[in-house]
Amino acid sequence: MKNLKGKIALVTGNSRGIGPLISKELSKEGAIVVGVARSTEGLRQTEDMIRAKGGDCHSIPWDLSDTGSLSELISKVTVEVGPIDILINNAGIEKYNEFEHYTKEDIDAIIDLNLKSPMELVRLTLGSMKERGGHIVNIASLAGKKGVPFNNIYSASKAGVIMWTDGLRKDLKGTKVRISVICPGFVSEAGMYHDAGVKAPFLLGSSKASKVAAAVVKAIKKNKAQVIVNQGPMKPLLAIDQLSPTFGDWVLTLFGVPKVSKKRLKD
Ligand SMILES: NC(=O)c1ccc[n+]([C@@H]2O[C@H](COP(=O)([O-])OP(=O)(O)OC[C@H]3O[C@@H](n4cnc5c(N)ncnc54)[C@H](OP(=O)(O)O)[C@@H]3O)[C@@H](O)[C@H]2O)c1
Repeated sequence: MKNLKGKIALVTGNSRGIGPLISKELSKEGAIVVGVARSTEGLRQTEDMIRAKGGDCHSIPWDLSDTGSLSELISKVTVEVGPIDILINNAGIEKYNEFEHYTKEDIDAIIDLNLKSPMELVRLTLGSMKERGGHIVNIASLAGKKGVPFNNIYSASKAGVIMWTDGLRKDLKGTKVRISVICPGFVSEAGMYHDAGVKAPFLLGSSKASKVAAAVVKAIKKNKAQVIVNQGPMKPLLAIDQLSPTFGDWVLTLFGVPKVSKKRLKD
């Protein structure tokens, strides 16, 4: 999709963190943003920020982990704003713990929001998108490329998002719908990692949230299958990890990721 002007973009997780920055970038391109999250106050702040810059933004407070309610959400968006042209599945949660100390509710909460809600939103919008054309962007994580210690349910949910997107991209070949996945590493400036106040491992570094937002627009305009947002040459290391996961574990330890995980565990 080369021109985003007047396109209706549903952005989940638009109340704080990376979501508002994605909305800002889409709005700069002329898209009409429809933000979804639970916090009415957070959504209103994002709306004010976009309107102050001359953009158009609507908000619908919704709990996306209630996947059975999402057809109602899509109907509401369609009636109140219009059919969705761009869907950004950005809302996500993580939780650090020793595996045996997670509750069943923790597992459900992470998988429902991070994996099942994007699938359900896509399932519900795809029919209309196939007729009109559209672009879906799923925000995954490098944690979906390599398992993160003590955050492995999150890793599993993001690996699911990456592989689901990869498979669906093939289904969509020959249709008017495009799909991309974005895999950020540690993100500074805003978001869940920034809010945790833990320093990124020196060798791995972090990327600004605005870079993730720019990657979303790039993925839409250039129809990118996957964009990795991280400092340094991540792709060769990920390729080596496919050949030898134990070597990958060694690199991860060298980068200091398990240390950061242990710090997050204590928080
Ligand atoms: N920050 C990073 O370092 C990083 C790195 C890689 C990938 N990512 C991914 O980037 C995406 C955005 O993360 P972030 O860092 O911006 O996280 P964040 O600051 O914690 O924001 C999460 C967003 O999701 C929304 N959300 C959470 N639970 C929800 C629910 N049940 N229903 C509806 N909305 C819900 C939150 O809004 P409410 O609480 O108001 O509902 C908020 O707007 C996530 O998918 C995350 O996995 C982040």
